[in-house]
Amino acid sequence: MNTHLAPPTNGKNGGVAVRLEAVDKVYRTEKIETVALSHVNLQIAAGEFLAVMGPSGSGKSTLLNVLGLLDAPSAGQVIFDDAAVSDASDRQLATLRNREIGFIFQSFHLIADLNALDNVQIPLLYRGLSHRERRARAERALERVGLKARMHHYPTQLSGGQQQRVAIARAIVGSPRLLLADEPTGNLDSKMGEDVMQILEEYNGESGVTVVMVTHDQRLADRTQRTVRLFDGRQVQ
Ligand SMILES: Nc1ncnc2c1ncn2[C@@H]1O[C@H](COP(=O)(O)OP(=O)(O)OP(=O)(O)O)[C@@H](O)[C@H]1O
Ligand SMILES: [Mg+2]
Repeated sequence: MNTHLAPPTNGKNGGVAVRLEAVDKVYRTEKIETVALSHVNLQIAAGEFLAVMGPSGSGKSTLLNVLGLLDAPSAGQVIFDDAAVSDASDRQLATLRNREIGFIFQSFHLIADLNALDNVQIPLLYRGLSHRERRARAERALERVGLKARMHHYPTQLSGGQQQRVAIARAIVGSPRLLLADEPTGNLDSKMGEDVMQILEEYNGESGVTVVMVTHDQRLADRTQRTVRLFDGRQVQ
């Protein structure tokens, strides 16, 4: 599979178009089998900002993991632009994840003994860039989320909202074409959640990145272009 997807246009990195075709995800443990996703068909346009909602256990994080190529579907296809990802080797998948996809999690997932600048540089470590170039890109990403002044702070020296902004800088530093956010405002009060949402909206508008955001907050979902609802692993809307 060609891991060099469509080139950037108009100076934007542009978004990836994603298609899920009849995707099932079944988790089997010794005693039980859980159908986390059942026959999900989903088309996401390049540059779309999509919200995913549904009760706890309905398969939202599973859907994001499948979209993010962290987890392979048990059946069905994941298609990026026009290429079926199931045809990719593990190495190609790792390259795609590193170059094309940015992740943001509810609990930030920053490394405690690295400062903001070093946390943000992590996705660039595998790209053969000079130390100088890595640092310059990380500074730009931190500036983008309004945190350049705190770049030498460690996670414990930052508020929850600031930590999430560092995590966003880390997710966008490599100019991904697909941004996946799993309840990015779930641990934040409404003011900090608003800041995070605004950054995601602005970045989506400026770069044309495709964004898929899981949220329990109807007001945030109302600001996206479309909401997909899951119930027991099935898409109900
Ligand atoms: N690694 C796993 N092994 C076994 N079962 C799993 C695994 N991951 C998820 N599941 C099961 O799959 C179902 C969907 O889980 P998922 O994490 O996608 O839900 P969710 O919609 O993200 O829920 P929440 O809102 O609580 O985060 C659940 O029943 C869960 O127990
Ligand atoms: Mg979840």
